[in-house]
Amino acid sequence: MDIDGSVRDPEKKEYSSVRVGREDDIKKSKRMTAVVHDREVVIFYHKGEYHAMDIRCYHSGGPLHLGDIEDFDGRPCIVCPWHKYKITLATGEGLYQSINPKDPSAKPKWCSKGVKQRIHTVTVDNGNIFVTLSNEPFNCDSDFYNTGDFKVIQSSS
Ligand code: FES
Repeated sequence: MDIDGSVRDPEKKEYSSVRVGREDDIKKSKRMTAVVHDREVVIFYHKGEYHAMDIRCYHSGGPLHLGDIEDFDGRPCIVCPWHKYKITLATGEGLYQSINPKDPSAKPKWCSKGVKQRIHTVTVDNGNIFVTLSNEPFNCDSDFYNTGDFKVIQSSS
């Protein structure tokens, strides 16, 4: 058993879920930060749903827990406070607007860059919030700012 009370399966190298707080508290605050197996994450409570993602923005490490949530193309996104990149809460996709330069009268269209921010799983059990880190085996851009030398835990609440 880990010091945080969680259990790791040594064969699968998968991380178990970690309790990060109480449902009552996040419903009031709408967001919280936590350290899960040495990885800093932000958890949002938005329109009745929970979302967890790496706390540092995939673009340049900006503090996503300080961003605003807005809908773009009908999709709730966290807007990074540093350079205003938009990241979908549900999937971690980076959204951008494109326009056809040959048709300047055309309306800009929202497009996806694909998954850029690693999303983690939130579960609720008996009033407690748990986060399970993603172990999806792909290189997610946000990994760079959320591991290794950038993995500096700051006190944030
Ligand atoms: Fe987030 Fe640049 S660091 S948009």
